[in-house]
Amino acid sequence: MTAADFDASGAGPGDGTRAVRAGLPEPAKYEPTLPGPVFAAHYHLPGEPTGPYTYGRDENPTWTHLERAIGELEAPGQDGVETLAFASGMAAISAVLFSQLRAGDTVVLPDDGYQVLPLVREQLTAYGIEVRTAPTGADAQLGVLEGAKLLWIETPSNPGLDVCDVRRLAAAAHAQGTLVTVDNTLATPFGQRPLELGADFSVASGTKMLTGHGDLLLGYVVSRNARPMASVRRWRKIVGAIPGPMEAWLAHRSLATLQLRADRQTANALAVAKALRGRPEVSGLRYPGLPDDPSHKIAAQQMRRFGCVVSFALPTRAHADRFLNALRIVDDATSFGGVRSTAERRGRWGGDAVPEGFIRLSAGAEDPEDLVADVLRALDESAE
Ligand SMILES: Cc1ncc(COP(=O)(O)O)c(C=O)c1O
Repeated sequence: MTAADFDASGAGPGDGTRAVRAGLPEPAKYEPTLPGPVFAAHYHLPGEPTGPYTYGRDENPTWTHLERAIGELEAPGQDGVETLAFASGMAAISAVLFSQLRAGDTVVLPDDGYQVLPLVREQLTAYGIEVRTAPTGADAQLGVLEGAKLLWIETPSNPGLDVCDVRRLAAAAHAQGTLVTVDNTLATPFGQRPLELGADFSVASGTKMLTGHGDLLLGYVVSRNARPMASVRRWRKIVGAIPGPMEAWLAHRSLATLQLRADRQTANALAVAKALRGRPEVSGLRYPGLPDDPSHKIAAQQMRRFGCVVSFALPTRAHADRFLNALRIVDDATSFGGVRSTAERRGRWGGDAVPEGFIRLSAGAEDPEDLVADVLRALDESAE
């Protein structure tokens, strides 16, 4: 789908239509709708070694289709958008950070983001990069922005589900020449579109709801900013953190159902959050889609769907473990965004500043009545 599919006001096909068509080549007689995965380490290349396809670490036709698709979802109707697929979300995150930052630069990270960010912070610091951190909520990163080369935003944050005002942060950053990246993992492009909110890069783990079946790892970077993006591409070539063709193809195939999954899982998350609200043993309940959630006001301004993750705490670690053991249709597993609901006691990893009884629950695509009943029954069974 190209800019020609969108009218002058930017209006174009709806999410479902875009999801099922994203990145597909023009129909050609006897060709499949979505070409199969191309397994190639190298391509026939007589003469001058120019692209598009030279060597398998640099380009692959299956990535090309997927990258086009993700670009169409992240920045519909916009020209000049470039997308790069990576082996995982962390590969994409590292590609932006380590390609843009040099010794002596300053970067601002969230202090409540994905739990591998503290490891990234250690590595950046070891390379002579100053790392400042601040919480996601209340746009607190604004307070430590001065002189930074890059601002890293994760909204909603994982696992605390705080939301910051991307437009406000991006405007402040750009006013002083700071690049802005948004980790769009939790929201997906059907939840929010960071480039439209002012970000220079939208980066995400495609391992989660974007692909949604819990069977592959993937990452991507999208930008309209050609110069920094050339460095990200160069970084991918140097490090070689590329997706396999099979993963790329499976991911593209999964995009066709993204709207269906996102709608169902968002509705299920809201149903679970509402059911948890009435429970005396539950504290710290967070879901940006709940009208009384502290994040709701700003989330409603910049998000189109509020995601599938709900977080809350039970009184003790033992209580949380009993609850997880009692669940039948919610798997006790890490990660989130899959069509099968999952939940875990987040403190078991040791990386997040959360209470021992803190649970991160990812609503899947089950029937809402079944999911809510399972959660409520497990709460009853795990009571003291
Ligand atoms: C917000 C966020 N960003 C990035 C990642 C890393 O993604 P991956 O596991 O695909 O490397 C995760 C993984 O959970 C995440 O939650």
